[in-house]
Amino acid sequence: MCGIIGYIGVKKATPILIDGLLKLEYRGYDSSGISTIEKDCISIMKDTGRVKNLYNLDGINNLNGNIGIAHTRWATHGKPSKENSHPHLDNNNNFSVVHNGIIENYTELRDFLIRNGYTFYSQTDTEVIPNLIDYYYKKETIDDKYRILRALQKTCNDLKGSFAIQVISKFMPDNLIVIRKDSPIVIGKGDNENYVSSDIPAIVSYTKEFYFLNNYELALLSRDNIEFYDINLNSIVKQVNVVDLDADSADKNGFSHYMLKEIFEQPSAIRKTIGSRLSANDSCNFEELNFTKEFLSSINKIYIVACGTAMHAGLTGKVAIEQLCNIPVTVDIASEFRYRNPIIDKNTLCIYISQSGETADTIAALKLSKSKGATTLAISNVIESSITREADYSIYTHAGAEIAVASTKAYTSQVILLNILALYFAEILESISSLETMKLKEEILALPQKVEETLQCTNLVEKYSKEICHEKDIFFLGRGIDYTTALEGSLKLKEISYIHSDAYAAGELKHGPIALIEDNVTVVGIITDESLVEKTISNIQEVVTRGAKTCIITNQSLNNIDFNQVISVPKTCTLLSPIVSIIPLQLLAYYISNEKGLDVDKPRNLAKSVTVE
Ligand code: AGP
Repeated sequence: MCGIIGYIGVKKATPILIDGLLKLEYRGYDSSGISTIEKDCISIMKDTGRVKNLYNLDGINNLNGNIGIAHTRWATHGKPSKENSHPHLDNNNNFSVVHNGIIENYTELRDFLIRNGYTFYSQTDTEVIPNLIDYYYKKETIDDKYRILRALQKTCNDLKGSFAIQVISKFMPDNLIVIRKDSPIVIGKGDNENYVSSDIPAIVSYTKEFYFLNNYELALLSRDNIEFYDINLNSIVKQVNVVDLDADSADKNGFSHYMLKEIFEQPSAIRKTIGSRLSANDSCNFEELNFTKEFLSSINKIYIVACGTAMHAGLTGKVAIEQLCNIPVTVDIASEFRYRNPIIDKNTLCIYISQSGETADTIAALKLSKSKGATTLAISNVIESSITREADYSIYTHAGAEIAVASTKAYTSQVILLNILALYFAEILESISSLETMKLKEEILALPQKVEETLQCTNLVEKYSKEICHEKDIFFLGRGIDYTTALEGSLKLKEISYIHSDAYAAGELKHGPIALIEDNVTVVGIITDESLVEKTISNIQEVVTRGAKTCIITNQSLNNIDFNQVISVPKTCTLLSPIVSIIPLQLLAYYISNEKGLDVDKPRNLAKSVTVE
């Protein structure tokens, strides 16, 4: 969704701002803009369409300011248009503002400002912010360094909703101000220059030192200093965090798309996820958790809550935790969970999964379960993301920055981390034998190699994708753990190829979906669970009888059966099989989208991180 970049230093700000926006493009947006301080006045350049269009705007090359703010907008209030793009100015051109989040009470604030003589030129919620700052600034009687901060403080106290805000002003031409509540923002510390961004990868090529703001904390940046304040404008001290993220994680490294790069990064991402948490001879190690047998024995119910792909990873986690720990697990979609009054008490453990750690519904669901007394555990890929700040405990997948909107390596890392977590619980609870533990550990440690082997199907999948890329509907079938892979494969396909697809538990076919099967419809079957092979095959045969073309992803020898396409994956234990069987389906979605000439990394209407409800 929206992205924010800021720069204050000695270099020309414009190229740094546009470079940062290009790195935030993956979040999804429909317009972009920048604002710089030019000889004590504020300039603004903005438009709809791609960030690179900014380079063509008249006068952009004449901007020489060393301080600026920039934004990519994903429309919420008001259609994508130049007027609705950020930055927004107040009526007197004193303050320029970019904002991520949603101001829920903007109509009320707008009416108030209109009554006080302000005019609005956009349909956005954001435009109230610079005007409120201007309103409060004028009311201030003391003209000191804190005058703008006090105006911003009062403004933020009026705002309901979520916000990450950057402000520049002609009254403070050597500063840039940042404040946040429930929307992500990081500050990068440089040498005689400082940076602001919605995420670390966009500015990691400039610095490895970052500050993270808590809700209602404010930062006053100058070239060589950053001052931090709480909402009452008391000065606070913040620790700098050194983040060891490769600068090239935000580059394509020779791949034609981020998605393909990220699919191929899976062996190394999985190695990093396993890290030192698991080894053949020692107990699983989660220093961040330190759960005791007494605590885990008191847990009588686990909820796993997430959205989209992260929720599909949660479905695999349910199977692992129930099987290894014998604790009942319910998997919920966050947007449903938060409004359905779930039964939660102090004996409930709620696990929240989010690659970005910023998904609004997942965060809201987490807050709800905390308020009802549950213990909360966040699983995220992004250090210091909102979900990890909110939860009682946090563990990271360490999969590296994921840029493509379609999640791939984050999914496989989540699945493996959930399995290691289940094993960690099981070791503490002594709920499985040491032989079972040892076997599962061996299988987990062998996974990076097996994923590498699986990737050898790439050419075959690419060839097959050309055969089916013009289909209108594609169905995915599986049973047990393979059903979770069917769901994820189907989601991947629809989000980047725009082909309608659905996933069904194979045993459900007869209860309705089989009515959709007709001549030449493509059905993808996933068959890896040894105990369910025959059952799934007989379901697939039912669709073949009705004229369907079939593609089977399997770790079995199914030589005697006539499928249109078989893609073999290495054998691993059932709990881990989604990690290998999803790979051909990720590749299939990728190559179909590419073959159709679509924007693989930035599919229409989608955002990488869904920070609004
Ligand atoms: C994945 O391909 C999707 N883009 C989407 O379903 C995503 O997984 C979902 O929005 C959740 O995001 P999160 O993991 O950052 O919370």
